[in-house]
Amino acid sequence: MKEYKLIGPITQLISLSNTPVKGALKDEDLIIIKDAGILMHREQIHAVGKFSELKDKTEVLDAEIHELKADYVATPGFIDCHTHICFAGSRARDYAMRNSGKTYLEIAKAGGGIWETVTKTREATIEQLIHSTTKRANQLLKNGITTIEVKSGYGLSVEEELKMLRSIKETDLNIEADLIATCLAGHMLPKDYDGNHTKYLTEISEQLFPILKTEGLTNRIDAFIEQSAFTAEHIYPYFHKAKDMGFDITVHADQFSTSGSEVAVNVGAISADHLEASTEREINLLAKSDVVSVALPGASIGLGCAFTPARKILDAGGALAIASDWNPGSAPMGDLLTQACILGTFEKLSNAEIIAGLTSRAAMALNLTDRGTLTSGKLADFNLFQTNDFNEIWYHQGKLTPSHVWKRGDLIYTKQ
Ligand code: NIG
Ligand code: FE
Repeated sequence: MKEYKLIGPITQLISLSNTPVKGALKDEDLIIIKDAGILMHREQIHAVGKFSELKDKTEVLDAEIHELKADYVATPGFIDCHTHICFAGSRARDYAMRNSGKTYLEIAKAGGGIWETVTKTREATIEQLIHSTTKRANQLLKNGITTIEVKSGYGLSVEEELKMLRSIKETDLNIEADLIATCLAGHMLPKDYDGNHTKYLTEISEQLFPILKTEGLTNRIDAFIEQSAFTAEHIYPYFHKAKDMGFDITVHADQFSTSGSEVAVNVGAISADHLEASTEREINLLAKSDVVSVALPGASIGLGCAFTPARKILDAGGALAIASDWNPGSAPMGDLLTQACILGTFEKLSNAEIIAGLTSRAAMALNLTDRGTLTSGKLADFNLFQTNDFNEIWYHQGKLTPSHVWKRGDLIYTKQ
């Protein structure tokens, strides 16, 4: 195996380099390199430029050359920065009940809701969780998603959260995509705590957080801020403890009511996700801050709710990433590309804003500086779509999937 690899000529290469990290983007702002090449060195990009020029350079480098014979568009590998793909069971019954008009409370009384998934996930073995998480991650990979954030949050006890996070870590070792784990022990109050939120969160921060560090399971802490889960008052001390220990913070914010995004800004979170209920006030708070706003169109489609006000967030100057929220309850579809395209049509997003939301800005939402653009020094994670026009990807609303996916300098998926 040679150390250098060169691929091209690529009809259009969308590098996302020089794309502003915040604010609205016009398609004209995107840098498109025609007849491009990507020169890789091991798992990184060594250079991006005109294929013919790179080819001349490779004579001295003795590179393995992958010469393309059809039209292709190259994009950075997509990053799904918010998922819950480690779970057991199905919530098809919830979905049917919700669509036929049953309320959240009625569904919970019938044994549905997040707690049903907690019960099923607690019953599952580590091996079963690894198996189903692997399957879902590989499904995402075929759509060009080379980095996937995965939350715990269906364990809700020290031992069960550890089981989930160990499963995620083990899955990451076995698959091609990179999994970025997040501890969502603050998803809801477990039933056995008699309404004592503080007791539960204190136990988690004192007993679980140190193990997350020693086992290297995650450096990210998330919580669901909502009346049905945890209030801002419950969460401030929890997040402060996490920050003091060096964890990054991310928040399930403003899904049904506001307050989560304000907490995110006040604690200096990396991202605030959902935001379907955000008003002008929250949008402006977020836009002025360094917190990345994450739209989750899959949850809007799954629940039949409003979309995240993505247009307003961008116009106010915010950074917007787009993620699938793939979970068994509110977002069972798990098709990020389709969802991002649909968000684009309803929120009037430019294709530049959509792709930045899936790549460079999604990397920011995970605090990852080694990926998200096709630039020298970044990971050689990229997709090839068999078309001659970048706009075709979004026009096909998720039906045009990559023909080739490269991850860390290796071709790891070819569409049959
Ligand atoms: O991001 N909002 C809270 N948590 C998940 C839903 C989880 C579930 O219903 O299982 C979400 O939508
Ligand atoms: Fe979520």
